Amino acid sequence: MTFYRKQDGDTSAAQACASTSTGVPDYLRETYTWAYLNPKTVPWLSSAPVVAAILWGNASRLIRKTVEEIEPGTRVLQAAAVYGRFSTKLAQAVGENGQLDVIDIAPIQVETARKRVQGMNQAKVMIGDASVVRSTPYDTVVCFFLLHEVPEAMKNKIVSALLASTKPGGKVVFVDYHKPSPLHPLKPVMSKIFDWLEPFAKGLWHKEIEEYAPDNNDVIWRKETLFGGMYQKVVAERRKPT
Ligand SMILES: C[S@@+](CC[C@H](N)C(=O)[O-])C[C@H]1O[C@@H](n2cnc3c(N)ncnc32)[C@H](O)[C@@H]1O
Repeated sequence: MTFYRKQDGDTSAAQACASTSTGVPDYLRETYTWAYLNPKTVPWLSSAPVVAAILWGNASRLIRKTVEEIEPGTRVLQAAAVYGRFSTKLAQAVGENGQLDVIDIAPIQVETARKRVQGMNQAKVMIGDASVVRSTPYDTVVCFFLLHEVPEAMKNKIVSALLASTKPGGKVVFVDYHKPSPLHPLKPVMSKIFDWLEPFAKGLWHKEIEEYAPDNNDVIWRKETLFGGMYQKVVAERRKPT
């Protein structure tokens, strides 16, 4: 299966997005097998207390900040699986008259996410690549802690594809890491963790999420930071045509 197509003049993107014959991209296999692909670690890493610890106690707040953007009865895309109770909260927010589609590029993550939303008929989980435009656009797309895990060229592809997968009048909600304020006591710790385990994360310390999007004045951007600047919520709203 071909997951990525090389476009003219897009050599770096094509390299960053190379995938194995299983469809799992090289950046994911080489960097995050321990976190997302290993059947021994996935079950305990995916538990809510572990997620709360990894996010320094901010998981519930960050989930709440995402969920508050969702209207009941709407169609929502979750652009990658997220550990803990994230998908369940999104499914509750769209309600029984809405639709939540969760995609992930890794089969083991699709299986794990399916178990979490079992019995919620409004939620579907499927294999999918966040850097590919969806065929039917959504009211809201959520991208929760995905961008810091992908190479720079892939960040561009994902931001563009998610904007193109959103209806005019709809929005993309990005929640992710951000450069903490200079005196943040956890800044040196996060810096070491990123250098050791998350080599693509510091891209978000140096660039605004908006800068990964194509120039397009049909999008209105708003941003807020949380926990001393360590996290950001960025909402990109697509204007309705006049
Ligand atoms: C959303 S991020 C992690 C969020 C957070 N650390 C958590 O609590 O789970 C991780 C997921 O992104 C998936 N992923 C990576 N690249 C992707 C892509 N291009 N499209 C869809 N999913 C992708 C990985 O398979 C993994 O399940």
